[in-house]
Amino acid sequence: MTDNFNKTHIKNATLRQLQIFEVVARHLSYTRAAEDLYLTQPTVSIQLKQLADIVGMPLLEQVGKRIFLTDAGVELLKVVRTVLEGLCHFEMTISDMKGVKAGKLRIAVITTAKYFVPRLLGPFCERYPGIDIALKVTNRERLLQRLEENEDDLYILGQPPEHLDMWVEPFLENPMVVLASHNHPLAGQKNISAARIAQEPFLMRESGSGTRLATENFFHERGLTINFRMELGSNEAIKQAVAGGLGITVLSAHTLALEKSADELAILDVEGFPIRRQWYVAYSTGKQLSVVAKAFLEFLQKESKPMAERYMQGMPGFPSLENEPGKKIKSKSGNKKN
Ligand code: PGA
Repeated sequence: MTDNFNKTHIKNATLRQLQIFEVVARHLSYTRAAEDLYLTQPTVSIQLKQLADIVGMPLLEQVGKRIFLTDAGVELLKVVRTVLEGLCHFEMTISDMKGVKAGKLRIAVITTAKYFVPRLLGPFCERYPGIDIALKVTNRERLLQRLEENEDDLYILGQPPEHLDMWVEPFLENPMVVLASHNHPLAGQKNISAARIAQEPFLMRESGSGTRLATENFFHERGLTINFRMELGSNEAIKQAVAGGLGITVLSAHTLALEKSADELAILDVEGFPIRRQWYVAYSTGKQLSVVAKAFLEFLQKESKPMAERYMQGMPGFPSLENEPGKKIKSKSGNKKN
C-alpha cells in the first residue's frame, strides 16, 4: 500500500506532457514555451502541474522571477530528451526506408560561417526537399554551450575546444585577414610588420567570440599588445566601422563574400597573415546522427570547397583556399566517428 503510494507512475504521463516539459525546461520560461508551442500559458501550467503530480515531486521551482529545474526535473529532462530524440530518429529511419530523406536538421554555426552555410543549404534543400532546417547563428562560446546541452545535430565552428567530448573534422579553410578602410595609409603597402599593425586602433568582437580569441592569440604569441579601440558585437558592424575609418580589424575572409562594403575595405599585407584557420564540423560523441544529419555531413564534406571557390571568385585579395581539408582530429577524450 505505502509502496504504491511512493511509486512514480511516470508511464501514465502523456507524450504531449513530456514535450511541453522539454520546451519549458529549455527556455526556463512558461511564456516563451507557450509561444513556441502555440498554447496558452495556463494550458502549459496545467499540463506541468499534472506531470509533477504523476512524478510525485515538483519539477520546477520559482526563485524571484526566475524558474529553475529541481533535481527531479533535471533527471526527468534527461529521460525525456532521450525519448524524444529516439522518436525523431525512428521517424527519419522510416522515411529512409521509404526512400525519402525527410525530417528535421538542426545546425548551429559560428557567425563567420553564416555567409557560407546558407549558400550551401540552397542546393542541399533542392536535393532533399523533404528536410526541414533550423539554422542557429551564434558566437563560439554560446555554440559550445549548445553542444554541451545537445541542442542541435551538427555544429560548425572555427576552433574545437579540447575539453568537450566530440567528433570533429576540418572541412574548409577559414583564413583570417587584416582589414582597413580602402583609403587607410597602410592600404597597398607590402609586408607590414605585426608590431606596426598592433599600434593601429583595433575594433574587436565581443569576448566569447572565436575571431577575437584567434586575434588575441596571434598578437600574444608575438609578445605584442593590441591597441584596443572599440568592441562591436557583429562582423557587419565591425566592417561598417572599419569602412567608416574608426580603426582596423582582423576578420575571417569569408565575411567579405557578397559584401557591398567590401569595395570600401582593403586587406592589408601583414607578416603572419592570413592566419590559416579551418572550419570544423562537429557533433557530440554521445549523439547518434540522424539519417538527415549524415546526408548533410556528406554534402558538406563534398561540396564546401567547390562552393567556396565559386562564391569567393573575383574577391580581390582573398587568400586562396589551397589546403586540402585536413584529417579528423582525435581529442584527448578520444573522438570517434559514430
Ligand atoms: P565567432 O567565431 O563567430 O565566435 O567569432 C568565429 C570563428 O571561431 O571562426
